[in-house]
Amino acid sequence: MKQVLNVKTDNSEYAIEISDNSFEKLNKEINEATKGQKRLIVISQKVYNLYYDRFGFSKDELFVLKDGEKEKNYKNYLKIINRALELGLTRKDVMVALGGGVVGDITGFAASTYMRGIDYIQVPTTLLSAVDSSVGGKTAIDLDEAKNIIGTFYQPKAVFININFLNTLDKRQFLSGLGEVLKYAFIEENCDYDSALYLFEFLTLACEKILQKEPITIIRMIEYCLNLKTTVVNQDEKESGLRKVLNFGHTFAHALETITKYKKYTHGEAVVYGMFFILNWAYKKEFITYSYYRLSIELLEKYGFKPLDKDFLPDKIFSIMKKDKKAVGDNITFIVPCAKKRVKEVKLSPAEVMSMLNS
Ligand code: GLY
Repeated sequence: MKQVLNVKTDNSEYAIEISDNSFEKLNKEINEATKGQKRLIVISQKVYNLYYDRFGFSKDELFVLKDGEKEKNYKNYLKIINRALELGLTRKDVMVALGGGVVGDITGFAASTYMRGIDYIQVPTTLLSAVDSSVGGKTAIDLDEAKNIIGTFYQPKAVFININFLNTLDKRQFLSGLGEVLKYAFIEENCDYDSALYLFEFLTLACEKILQKEPITIIRMIEYCLNLKTTVVNQDEKESGLRKVLNFGHTFAHALETITKYKKYTHGEAVVYGMFFILNWAYKKEFITYSYYRLSIELLEKYGFKPLDKDFLPDKIFSIMKKDKKAVGDNITFIVPCAKKRVKEVKLSPAEVMSMLNS
């Protein structure tokens, strides 16, 4: 089974393929897409250990990146650039990202800056990168105190999503990806997709099949999420307005990840905590009705998620939020639920944020 979606921004156009093709077929597709180009394949250590034998890559063209958010740093970025130089990649050549979000983000950033920009292809191997980071052209590396603070908007040449990689994804990482999937249910109305996808209802009804990784359901779920994401990116590639809705749950999540040094929570877990947090606040402030609030909490709980125990320090969270890319002057931006499947941007003053964190 195979679905193809298209992204069309001002400067680029590319296809996203979602399939359960064999790895042999995927290997062929990568070869076809990179035909006649020298390539540097950045592959995560885990994916290398599990899948290297299934692909026909030569060891010379590989850069193996250790796993974990802390690897998305400028030292590894420079190593990738140096490796591209050693291999003699020119402006006509290509990088391939084979791994999760860390590999995709750092490879995209390296490709966007190497010789002022060369092609790259995303082959996401985690659910989180399949439904979010591999699509839309956000590339980045982190500093210790600020996630994704150095980066570019730079679209890939193609995205190949193969759900067979999910078979070896551990439960925690799969659930982490579902955190980003659930996010889309709360923003469907903002995205302005051609027709109603009823993602909120789909995720409620198909929960068991999704948790069992039933292939057709998983392909459909990824397709729904990316229908929404590509519709948003096609309208606002550089996040000057609409694209901000994709940050639902993320202001809190990024701060939580940063104060815990990316070690305690996965990105998706942090996003889920961020969604619980902002849903609670939105209900307290009467942005949403009690019935929608309950339905929303029940959807998150259906997947086994719970709100964060209040073991975070509001002062610390606040000081990180101030450094967030989404901060404007002293104010901090939150994407807040305001109606069924709809969110809006709310800018809060430092005093309001402190009161929110202490409530
Ligand atoms: N991850 C949010 C975005 O791509 O805009």
